[in-house]
Amino acid sequence: MSLPQNFLWGGATAANQFEGGYTEGGKGLSTADVITAGSHTLARQITYTTKEGVECAQPIMPFKDLPDGSKCGVQKGQYYPSHEGIDFYHHYKEDIALFAEMGFKCFRLSINWARLFPMGDEKEPNEEGLKFYDNVFDELRKYNIEPVVTISHYETPLELVNQYGGWLDRRCIDFFVNYCNTLFTRYKGKVKYWMTFNEINMMGFLPFFAGGVTKSNPQAQAQAVHHQFIASAKAVKLGHQIDPENQIGLMIAYGATYGLTCKPEDQALAMEDTRKRHFYSDVMSRGYYPAYKIKEYERLGVKVSMEAGDEELLKEGCVDYLAFSYYTSHCVTSEEGEAIGGNFSMGVKNPYIKASDWGWQIDGIGLRIALNALWERYQKPLFIVENGLGAVDKVEEDGSIQDDYRIAYLKEHIEEMDKAVNQDGVELMGYTPWGCIDLVSAGTGEMKKRYGFIYVDRDDNGNGSLARSRKKSFHWYQQVIESNGANLKDIQL
Ligand code: BG6
Repeated sequence: MSLPQNFLWGGATAANQFEGGYTEGGKGLSTADVITAGSHTLARQITYTTKEGVECAQPIMPFKDLPDGSKCGVQKGQYYPSHEGIDFYHHYKEDIALFAEMGFKCFRLSINWARLFPMGDEKEPNEEGLKFYDNVFDELRKYNIEPVVTISHYETPLELVNQYGGWLDRRCIDFFVNYCNTLFTRYKGKVKYWMTFNEINMMGFLPFFAGGVTKSNPQAQAQAVHHQFIASAKAVKLGHQIDPENQIGLMIAYGATYGLTCKPEDQALAMEDTRKRHFYSDVMSRGYYPAYKIKEYERLGVKVSMEAGDEELLKEGCVDYLAFSYYTSHCVTSEEGEAIGGNFSMGVKNPYIKASDWGWQIDGIGLRIALNALWERYQKPLFIVENGLGAVDKVEEDGSIQDDYRIAYLKEHIEEMDKAVNQDGVELMGYTPWGCIDLVSAGTGEMKKRYGFIYVDRDDNGNGSLARSRKKSFHWYQQVIESNGANLKDIQL
């Protein structure tokens, strides 16, 4: 394997899943702070109070409209895993030292918008929040680790939901651009790689997660994501003005879709399913709405309200690179099939591959297919900013964690990544496996669904010392980075 010398090996996280300190330093609440823990089988819930003052909760999946006039909030007696996360807020020095020990070239984290703008709509930022991220970036720089920052990762300030209805309201564009202006100005010279919205295509699936939107019909989702497209385009333009060195990308949940059989109907369904992802990257990378989406909106009676200048903005604010998450692939069929889970995606079981304990199918080859599909479509640099295996880890009596299954998963995917780069000619900027340190699962709220190279002593109910320890995969990944991907061999400890 030969990867460019400046290839960005690292790991990825999100504030709401690992930072904790949910009201410290003047932070306001975000959407993630009102989502309960859930479990493998029980969906996480959003807690809210109706306009009559009754406390209620409803599942994030399947999401139904919240009642009009209700306000989301924290309720007594509920457990919210975002509140403490794994307490990176107080452990960041220790954690960054461990990332440095693994040899990270970059570290992906998100900024918690409500830490800087507690209500979301203030003009001036909260200095204490800004200082926290200054400290984190300085600590990363100390080890020559490049920060890769997601500006909004499933953590819309809660007051934007309660006062404005989230991203359904166009005023969120200005609030977001003001937030970005603060980031680009304050962290100029410290941060160069940005992504505007994590998995922006989640708006079509889980609108509360994606943008604090409490309505789940196609009209609301289309309007809300249009606002995010405009906000992202404005952010890209602004980021380039403030510092021409800035590289600003989109981020989508990606995967590979296969027709279950070679029946033409199944292949046509696979094409349509893939568009559910490409729509977002088409708009943000090419700068206009694709014909298939315009036709779909016409069929559904969806009318996106646009303002004068929106179309130009989309063209002027195209992203510099495409970042994506890749965990799994799925099949689609015109007939019956066995439903399977995935990264918030729906599909049927592929008989040729195995699945994780959470039913996410493991498909390294799908990653090569995904990389090629995106590269051929856009010809812009790609960045794999999430990939990994959520699994239960066992701590042995001697304290070691033998996570060979995680090593096997990552090895399979890195090998396919290598083929995409070295056989197919895909331009790839870097690779940041998800949850490089154990953190809260976004989908289930569990701690036991672990992705990390670093184990964190904490359970699904918030018990545990929060002590960090190195898994076997920690040492393996260290060797991978040291050899710039050439040495993927198993290791003996
Ligand atoms: C992605 C998200 O969808 O998948 C992350 O960007 C998330 O926030 C990751 O954690 C893995 O999903 P889960 O449900 O296993 O945490």
